[in-house]
Amino acid sequence: MDQMTILREKAWDILKETMIHFGQEPVGTVAALDPHVNALNYDQCFIRDFISAALVFLAKGETTIVYNFLLQTLRLQIKETQLDFLEPGRGLMPASFKVVYNENGERLQADFGDHAIGRVTPVDSCLWWVFLLRAYVRATGDLGFCHTPECQKGLRLIMELCLSARFDMYPTLLVPDGACMIDRRMGINGHPLEIQSLFYMALRATQELLIRNNENAKTLKAVKNRINPLVSHLRQHYWLDLDRLNIIYRYKGEEYGENVLNQFNIYPESVPYSQLSDWLPQEGGYFVGNLGPSQLDCRFFSMGNLMAMITGLSTRDQAQKILNVIEIKWSDLVGYMPMKICFPALKGRDWEVLTGCDPKNRPWSYHNGGNWPVLMWLLVASAQLHQRSGIGQWALETAAQRLGKDEWPEYYDGKNGRLIGKEARKFQGWTLSGFLLALEYQDRPEILDWISFEPWDSDLPEPDLESV
Ligand code: GLC
Repeated sequence: MDQMTILREKAWDILKETMIHFGQEPVGTVAALDPHVNALNYDQCFIRDFISAALVFLAKGETTIVYNFLLQTLRLQIKETQLDFLEPGRGLMPASFKVVYNENGERLQADFGDHAIGRVTPVDSCLWWVFLLRAYVRATGDLGFCHTPECQKGLRLIMELCLSARFDMYPTLLVPDGACMIDRRMGINGHPLEIQSLFYMALRATQELLIRNNENAKTLKAVKNRINPLVSHLRQHYWLDLDRLNIIYRYKGEEYGENVLNQFNIYPESVPYSQLSDWLPQEGGYFVGNLGPSQLDCRFFSMGNLMAMITGLSTRDQAQKILNVIEIKWSDLVGYMPMKICFPALKGRDWEVLTGCDPKNRPWSYHNGGNWPVLMWLLVASAQLHQRSGIGQWALETAAQRLGKDEWPEYYDGKNGRLIGKEARKFQGWTLSGFLLALEYQDRPEILDWISFEPWDSDLPEPDLESV
């Protein structure tokens, strides 16, 4: 057997050990199985962490665990508005859950961020849930589950929560800091790219999954009305390449009225020109991290950009440009472990103010420019979908040299990802599943159909449920 096959088998064996059961049934996987440190909340099943594991199980034909997970997390969703408004909003899904035992037997206990650092809101959970439901339906053909009143109601509540009118003026989703994979203060409050990519994906998936009937008509209409403005906003205002950089460079501030060029009143001085004009390749481009009044966060955030390529938020041309950046800036964005969660790291006063002097998020560590192997499946998937499979192969070979030897760490540190993360867990579930899933996609690109979408185009016909 070659080295890759041995590593693959080992990873699969450990991943199976991370499974947790409810009753006699598998229902999820723990975040990490590190025997050396206190588990803290890593003994729970996190919704976002389980997604890559679920996709591996689907790829291997083990569908029961995915069905159970979807059903049980749906039951943990908040279904009623609490009168004291101290509880999470209707439609929200937990960050994680665990099995607890008492005199009446077992039950699943949801955690809505109460046990996370800083009590962050898990906005991304319900969006990932929709993503997984679609993948499950496509992989198994089990439309019956998706058509149950319980499931349809769950989808409606998620959309109600995302689409209700609040104080915002943009088609994007306004969220607090740390509402996604980066679940600590990192200056990504407002309209972070990861959430916008997931939100857009969830709208498209819901269009496929909601039955056309009277009960769903209002939600379907609201979904349809939102996709176009959202995509136009993101493709236009979040996009950064040299042409855009030149336009922004000559922006005038303090303009009033509907037809102004600099709609967000961005002061060119706030954009790091000297770095970007050196760094950004001529043939590259990417979606920026955040946009708000006088704010354009030019950091490269991998999750949002990769997701954009998989779900057709980017045009085909934009996807090629993002992959060009990754390829040309390989040592910055991938280095010795695919791949950086964001680039560059916040340093000095920026680090002090934006992270609140968080020592775990010091420059080039953890969420602040650390390298996260889980991102590998998204990298391999995007590269495959856009005919650049060499990028995925390169990433896999780089990772395979380290992951097993280093005992599957949660993340890596350092400018090029050479150091095992200072506080990283070992035997991290989504490191194992991220690697396994990347291998599946590299070998069997046809199953990418479960997770991908055609690039969005307002002329696309509405998805026909029966053809899902
Ligand atoms: C950390 C990560 C978060 C992940 C959790 C469990 O809190 O920031 O994204 O879900 O660990 O692995």
